[in-house]
Amino acid sequence: MRSVKYDPARVRRLLAVIGLSIAAALAAGCGSQSIDVPSDDPAHEGAQTFLERCSGCHTLTAAASQGSSNRSQRNQGPDFDQRKESYKDVIYAIRNGGFSGAIMPQNIVVGQDAREVALFLAHYAGQNVEEPARPTEPGP
Ligand code: HEC
Repeated sequence: MRSVKYDPARVRRLLAVIGLSIAAALAAGCGSQSIDVPSDDPAHEGAQTFLERCSGCHTLTAAASQGSSNRSQRNQGPDFDQRKESYKDVIYAIRNGGFSGAIMPQNIVVGQDAREVALFLAHYAGQNVEEPARPTEPGP
């Protein structure tokens, strides 16, 4: 006795629909990654620009970027969670293409955009620097 009619074509269609919804959900998940800088923070604009222009090659949690994750690729830049940057150095790196001028393209951003990114990095880079081990201080 067969109580349920099993139609392979229908099952395939159903599976296809499920597959598409999963793909859509994953895509939406990526798109919802957002910067971690409040909109009233003076560094907000710079964080947005960083996410759009720099995140492909540099990691920085505050800008939701993971670009340094594969450092075996030569074009992956330093991880800015681990490295502090000064305003001046970021402007220099943007103008010259990193410090060596070899890999990072020059002038990815210019003018106001460059200043905003530099301001953002000067505040937010290096938040996760591992402190060098120090001898424990003697107690009082
Ligand atoms: C195509 C990949 C790529 C992009 C895009 C990119 N960078 Fe870089 N960046 C690098 C690489 C690789 C280095 C390290 C090599 C060097 O310093 O010459 C670097 C180095 C740097 C440095 C020096 C860091 C240090 O302490 O040595 C700064 C600052 C910097 N990038 C900022 C930025 C900013 C800001 C943006 C966006 C406007 C950006 N980068 C976009 C690849 C990139």
